[in-house]
Amino acid sequence: MADTLTITDNRTGKQYEVPINDSTIRALDLRQIKVTEDEFGLMTYDPAYQNTASCKSRITFIDGDKGILRYRGYPIEQLAEHSTFVETSYLLLNGELPTESQLAGWNQKLQWHAMLHENIKKFMEGFRYDAHPMGIFLSTVGALSTFYPEAKNVFDNEARYTQVARLVAKVPSIAGYAFRHSIGRPYVYPDPELSFIGNFLRMLFKKVERYKLDPILERAMDVLFILHADHEQNCSTSAMRSIGSSHADPYASLAGAAAALSGPLHGGANEAVLRMLAEIGSVENVPAFVKKVQAGEGRLMGFGHRVYKSYDPRATVIKQTAYQVFEVTGKNPLLDVALELERIALEDEYFISRKLYPNVDFYSGLIYEAMGFRPAMFPVLFAIGRTVGWIAQWEEMLQDSDQKIARPRQIYLGSEQRDFVPMADRS
Ligand code: ACO
Repeated sequence: MADTLTITDNRTGKQYEVPINDSTIRALDLRQIKVTEDEFGLMTYDPAYQNTASCKSRITFIDGDKGILRYRGYPIEQLAEHSTFVETSYLLLNGELPTESQLAGWNQKLQWHAMLHENIKKFMEGFRYDAHPMGIFLSTVGALSTFYPEAKNVFDNEARYTQVARLVAKVPSIAGYAFRHSIGRPYVYPDPELSFIGNFLRMLFKKVERYKLDPILERAMDVLFILHADHEQNCSTSAMRSIGSSHADPYASLAGAAAALSGPLHGGANEAVLRMLAEIGSVENVPAFVKKVQAGEGRLMGFGHRVYKSYDPRATVIKQTAYQVFEVTGKNPLLDVALELERIALEDEYFISRKLYPNVDFYSGLIYEAMGFRPAMFPVLFAIGRTVGWIAQWEEMLQDSDQKIARPRQIYLGSEQRDFVPMADRS
């Protein structure tokens, strides 16, 4: 069996044979298909990249039909059970699980770089008291580029490694400051004596007395960060790769990725889920809400996914984590609404026929809220975990000799050439 595709152009009757590699044809191989020699050649039209691979990657594998997610070959369920976020971040960035001494070295690097420049505090003070923490987060990440001008040397391995460690270490501190800013509390400096997660929770929630860390909540946060750490070529990761393809520095690229994440169809979804559950209010109102969604009035937030069409394996892990957290914090009153919504939707023809299942964000918001976060903080929490994936994908893109500056084509449907009309002659 030949690994090729034969294409007949019915406009000319000509046949073309293009190679198939990794179940893919190269879009550029279609360029030779034309009616006349001076024509541009055939292109593909794929809005929202629904069937176009933009890169080769060795980081994350997803089989959306079977509900499989693996980082560097390791199933997400195993990482969520046995690994920590720090270890998983090493795995995603380096390709292999660390040895004990590699892990200790990585931990130390993250502790070392967790501190933010004092001017960041002044920068944050410029935001209004009610600024959305995601807006603060992405602006501050972008601003870091001005503190580390050597970051522009994206092909200098040593400089790049330092920025990678800085970014992974500093995003929790930025998130901590953004949170404290939004509730009007003084910023808390990182404490290198604590674990990555322990330090983060303390930076958020410390009051006057010594912060007491609950191991169950610490572990839940660790698991949530692991689940969010990477998800191959999603909207924000594509933004990271696209911006980085111009060789912009990683802070600028990551600010762009975070901006993409902030939208309600992506990382803003868990915030939207909570708002939706609060709007539904009680279990009795669920059937009426589902009817509205079926009638095309809004979406069931936290449901559906571009690639998962049987279930989202992260949602399964997160549901278990939710119950562990509620043992400590008490049940989130909106849990019953969520469970009823899930039950009705999973039995409903509208959702079944469209293969709509709960995604990772259906339950994450309930956990975050029970832990004391306001919904506006949810996308920021997502961004902390995803920072690792964005960076791993950005580094892979930089080292991939197939890659160039991202520059899609378009099908132009606008006016033909026409002459400028002076103002007095316009109707
Ligand atoms: N509620 C109701 N209907 C939905 C939903 C939903 N959540 N999601 C999709 N549909 C319907 C669409 O209306 C469409 O119906 P139609 O065929 O009658 O027109 C059909 O299902 C297919 O939907 P698409 O929009 O084509 O699916 P797509 O793959 O483009 O969208 C997305 C995926 C954006 C995640 C979508 O399911 C959605 O908006 N979900 C809600 C937001 C959400 O939870 N986002 C988080 C995603 S996970 C993440 O980013 C971590």
